[in-house]
Amino acid sequence: MPCMKDKTSTPWVMMNMAMTADGKTSGPKEANGFPRTPSMSRFSSKADHRRLLQIRATTDAVMSGRATVESDAIDLGPGSKHWQRERCRHGREACNKRIVVSASGRIQPHCLIYQNNSSPLLIATTQSGLASARASTRAYDWIRVEAFGEEKINLKQCIRWLQKHWQVRRLVVEGGGHLNDAMFREGLVDELFLTLCPLIYGGRHHATIADGVGFTQLSDAYRLRCVERKRKGRELFLRFLREPDGKV
Ligand SMILES: NC(=O)c1ccc[n+]([C@@H]2O[C@H](COP(=O)([O-])OP(=O)(O)OC[C@H]3O[C@@H](n4cnc5c(N)ncnc54)[C@H](OP(=O)(O)O)[C@@H]3O)[C@@H](O)[C@H]2O)c1
Repeated sequence: MPCMKDKTSTPWVMMNMAMTADGKTSGPKEANGFPRTPSMSRFSSKADHRRLLQIRATTDAVMSGRATVESDAIDLGPGSKHWQRERCRHGREACNKRIVVSASGRIQPHCLIYQNNSSPLLIATTQSGLASARASTRAYDWIRVEAFGEEKINLKQCIRWLQKHWQVRRLVVEGGGHLNDAMFREGLVDELFLTLCPLIYGGRHHATIADGVGFTQLSDAYRLRCVERKRKGRELFLRFLREPDGKV
């Protein structure tokens, strides 16, 4: 897979998402925010899952928002021995590092992601979430908790920390919509992998690739260029690169 920055610059940041033909990425938001219905997030094919593992195999670390990892049995790991060997063949550690973003630090330690100790896991939180995240994960020595910002997470600072302390040069962000939105608004996404699936969910409360705040002016919209499109089975696999200045 393509595209690297030079050794002195910030890590290359990819995003990988699957969406329905009407742009939805999972079910409707429930009254308390989440979890959404997990089955509505499992709509893409085995080929899409294989692509997810293939993309992960090109990275040093995988990042997701707390709602995504706590909504299902998700470990953000590299997958089977085949993919671990593939990683090693390209000079990477057998298992990628993992990052969960949570401003509140109110994580649910029984979830699979926190129980899985196959590789180091960073909980990226804020000063106000630090105590809670540390208290919930005290027993897990594979989990590290760091604060980036007071109330709001400074994602740029987090990515620089990953580069400096975990030598991350390629990172993939795997949703959900709230984390993705912040990544776009901070101008951090270099490459987008998108799988288009032939389904319509409808509904204005269903999740999309970038929820949260969004851009409110056309002139501010994030600009991408489609550089690859492949049809496989019933799905369309797309790849986009950020336009040089990212905006209009
Ligand atoms: N189709 C796909 O490819 C795909 C991929 C991923 C996820 N999904 C689906 O998307 C849904 C979850 O998406 P979501 O948008 O509700 O949640 P999300 O982005 O996964 O997580 C939201 C939570 O993560 C933390 N967070 C995210 N961005 C943050 C930021 N910039 N600063 C600080 N904290 C941040 C916050 O945690 P705190 O509340 O702890 O502060 C927030 O409540 C699930 O249903 C999942 O299955 C679909």
